[in-house]
Amino acid sequence: MPMDKIAVLDFGGQYAHLIANRVRRLGVYSEIFDGETTAAKLQGYKGIIFSGGPQSVYEHDSVKCDPKILELGVPILGICYGHQLLAYIQGAKVEPAHLREFGLTEMKVVKAEGVFKGLDAVETVWMSHGDSVKELPPGYEVIGESPGENAAIANFSKNFYGFQFHVEVVHTVHGMKILKNFLDLCGVEYTWKIDDYIAQEIEAIRSKVGDKKVFLMVSGGVDSTVAFALLEKALGPERVYGLFVDTGYLRLNEREQVKKALTDLGFSNLHIRDESKRYFESLRDKYDPEAKRKIIGDLFLEVQKDVADELKLNPDEWLLGQGTIYPDTIETGGTRHAAKIKTHHNRVPQIEELMKAGRIIEPLAQLYKDEVRQVGEKLGLPTAMVWRHPFPGPGLAVRCLCAHGEKYPDHHTTVEKKIDQILKPHGLTCKILPIQSVGVQGDFRTYKHPLALMGAVEACDFALLDQLATTLINQFKEINRVIVTVTPNKMETFRVQNKYLTPDRIELLQKADAKVSEFLVENKLQREIWQFPTVLLPLSVNRESGESVVLRPVCSEEAMTASFYRMDQKLLKGLSAAIFEIPGITAVFYDVTNKPPGTIEWE
Ligand code: XMP
Repeated sequence: MPMDKIAVLDFGGQYAHLIANRVRRLGVYSEIFDGETTAAKLQGYKGIIFSGGPQSVYEHDSVKCDPKILELGVPILGICYGHQLLAYIQGAKVEPAHLREFGLTEMKVVKAEGVFKGLDAVETVWMSHGDSVKELPPGYEVIGESPGENAAIANFSKNFYGFQFHVEVVHTVHGMKILKNFLDLCGVEYTWKIDDYIAQEIEAIRSKVGDKKVFLMVSGGVDSTVAFALLEKALGPERVYGLFVDTGYLRLNEREQVKKALTDLGFSNLHIRDESKRYFESLRDKYDPEAKRKIIGDLFLEVQKDVADELKLNPDEWLLGQGTIYPDTIETGGTRHAAKIKTHHNRVPQIEELMKAGRIIEPLAQLYKDEVRQVGEKLGLPTAMVWRHPFPGPGLAVRCLCAHGEKYPDHHTTVEKKIDQILKPHGLTCKILPIQSVGVQGDFRTYKHPLALMGAVEACDFALLDQLATTLINQFKEINRVIVTVTPNKMETFRVQNKYLTPDRIELLQKADAKVSEFLVENKLQREIWQFPTVLLPLSVNRESGESVVLRPVCSEEAMTASFYRMDQKLLKGLSAAIFEIPGITAVFYDVTNKPPGTIEWE
């Protein structure tokens, strides 16, 4: 049956699939193409969207599109890099922006018509860019203005639009409305449904697996459980085998809980292995986050091979199943133009080899978390399972930061003084911490320092902290996160000790993490807060021994962007006091960084 489709051109980064996800959510079929796809292949699509991407259009080796696409006679929307590219190929000047914008910004709507129909005079939009369109191409006018340059431009006669902001992320408050306006301009029919996806995926599983069986790595989390349910529906229970590995980095009592949950769901072919000793031993002296991730990912495969050997499974009769979802691939740099943010455990090089050999099956690999949950609900999984918070495959190993020597950025005291000047009117002071963690800015991985704010943060004014965190990180390249102290001790000096992934540290983190889990249940916050990592830093304050905890609750929809959760003062006080009481904890911090520039996890 012919159906209306939107083509999304992928220029790298995380965005093309997110745009496709949003288009589907609005009920329209979408298909992703490489950015260099020829115009001839895009004939018949009702509209074309150019995604964002990490490059600069003026660099000679950056990805360019086929200019003939402009002659297809259908509406085109360019977003971020796509907007710059659309303008550039029509003669505009694109240069580094006088103001790089990462995060929320206000856009004045100059013309509330066409794609901007029904918008407010001022809209909150979300940006992540270092370049901007300086001079417009002929036939264009500005339809949205932000403190940076040319937030939105349009050529109404051709139906071409360019947005510097990301319409597809949830933080652009009326993003879906704007996208719907664009789809209306394309004249599409709204016919896409999740049930159709499930039916197609079941067919795809049957054809890929043939008469083989699937050995599925399960974690008890949403993704692998939904993958399991879908595989069983397609193949029947006797052809799906589950392996759950206890790495030692699980949450308190998690092995028992997962076993019960999966058994209750009727997962009969479940094999559980305690491999914690092997993991602790292999990671004994590791501190670099990527090194940790690679070893953990490789070990998963080794364990899987051992189990397969023990069970005498013939490799020719089995495929390895994983609950990989789209963000896992994209953050590993797994598409052609994407930069690596981090190596997800299910995307280590060995797995990529197996994928090339056609030995891996991942029925959810094109979906985002919100869609995985929709599939889970449609398949009748229990609500508590479908709405479990995401938890990374490498578990608490990610959230347990390790250190090998103290590290400060160059001239850190000068930078601190400059920041203190900005903070002074608000009664705050700062310290750059001698440790680094992963972040994401302008689609690239960063590995920078957190900035700790101290002073009158007792009465956390989250609106102020949000604004300060955004401005400071945009302004000072040394930092990628801002945290505030939430424990009553006055912090004067900080020390980072050499610490690695050891059982005693994981145990300490498990205790703090368990308090957070209890807190979420007691206060019924599991839905309002999308994910709540509890992080252990090998950081002691005021010459005491012990370590620090960072609380990182976030709101998100699909993990590609997130904003820090603004917790009620009283609840925050209670929670931080409970964690501060744990022997071995010397300080508790609250993370007020959005994603980007921070990531959700700390590592
Ligand atoms: P970040 O920290 O990049 O995380 O903002 C985005 C989402 O991905 C989860 N995450 C993982 N999930 N394997 C997974 O299955 C992994 O290796 C992994 N690393 C991060 C993270 O918890 C968040 O929901």
